[in-house]
Amino acid sequence: MNDTILILNGPNLNLLGKRQPEIYGHETLADVEARCRAEAEGFGLTIAFHQSNAEHQIIDWIHEYRVGSAGIVINPAAFTHTSVAILDALNACEVPIVECHISNVHKREAFRHHSYVSLAATAVMAGFGTHGYVLAVRHIAHLTARGGAS
Ligand code: DQA
Repeated sequence: MNDTILILNGPNLNLLGKRQPEIYGHETLADVEARCRAEAEGFGLTIAFHQSNAEHQIIDWIHEYRVGSAGIVINPAAFTHTSVAILDALNACEVPIVECHISNVHKREAFRHHSYVSLAATAVMAGFGTHGYVLAVRHIAHLTARGGAS
């Protein structure tokens, strides 16, 4: 468990690659998962990778990994801007949390500028495209001291 990074994806990210590719790119979520697994392996870490369109399911996964995992990378998608329940779940975590957005939310509509999740996040990434997930994995590896000088 302490070798595992939980990577969570919120609503509509199952459509990654098909949904607004001009904003989110052409890679699928399966492509992102493969890249994260390869990156984590280099640090001797494993990945639990999930997507759900349901808020309660995301909260249940956070509860499972809130203590004793290497950390959590979360792209809460639209729940970023609405979910006090996900914020509360993240506030109950004892592991590092990286909030990760594919797009630069600050360059977009005003309602995307506020994040409930940022109040609980150790670090926040936005605008790195899908590569942001890989960078988030690398950062958690660094925090576990497996990342060496990275
Ligand atoms: C997103 C940004 C959110 O505002 C949006 O609702 C998403 C994806 C991103 O990765 O850029 O679904 O989290």
